[in-house]
Amino acid sequence: MNTPINILAIVGSYRKAGIIERAVDEILASARERGAVTRKISLLDKRLAFCTNCRSCTQVAGENYGVCILDDDMDALLQEVDRADALVLASPMNAGTVTALMKTFIERLVCTAYWPWGTPAPKARRAGKSKRAVLVASSAAPGFLARLTGDVTKRLKSAATMLGAETIGTLFIGLAAQQQHQELSKTTIQKAHQLGHKLAAGKSARES
Ligand SMILES: Cc1cc2nc3c(=O)[nH]c(=O)nc-3n(C[C@H](O)[C@H](O)[C@H](O)COP(=O)(O)O)c2cc1C
Repeated sequence: MNTPINILAIVGSYRKAGIIERAVDEILASARERGAVTRKISLLDKRLAFCTNCRSCTQVAGENYGVCILDDDMDALLQEVDRADALVLASPMNAGTVTALMKTFIERLVCTAYWPWGTPAPKARRAGKSKRAVLVASSAAPGFLARLTGDVTKRLKSAATMLGAETIGTLFIGLAAQQQHQELSKTTIQKAHQLGHKLAAGKSARES
């Protein structure tokens, strides 16, 4: 029997049941229809401190992520990422980029690099991309304009890369704040389902 694909969604929206979370739910539901096992983590529910830039997590070489001096939920989050075959990284666009919540998470990914003092640039601890990722973003502005003027998908893609995941699709929801309780459009739901199926169709990292 095939090992089910294990998909982890990390959500950086400030609103439970907002546009982003509902789009992620659609992706995960369609992935489950195809046999995947899914889990969704809202960063709102986690204790995540700001990186203090002490760089102690970047000093020791090796494949293991560097150990952070901060005692919060980041280490457990990274362990969940390690167990996943595929990721969904999701954030609204705020002030042209990911939310501060998602940015806090992304800054803490510095531990995925080896960057000892005296060297000019970080090196990824793990070569290659063994996972796959889907990105989800939303904006009040029309999608084409938001993508042109903001960098939310670029930030999410770079986070996926740091976590060893190749981005296989993006769902960008423009005009996401036309109403206080906005429904997802049929097109968005359709695209979310396609992406869920695509994520579930891959091989489990434990099989390859
Ligand atoms: C503080 C703040 C800043 C925002 N900045 C932008 C922006 O720069 N461009 C934009 O198109 N929408 C912006 N928005 C609108 C959000 O992107 C939109 O409400 C969000 O995508 C909806 O996602 P949610 O339902 O998951 O909260 C901003 C919203 C907030 C609260």
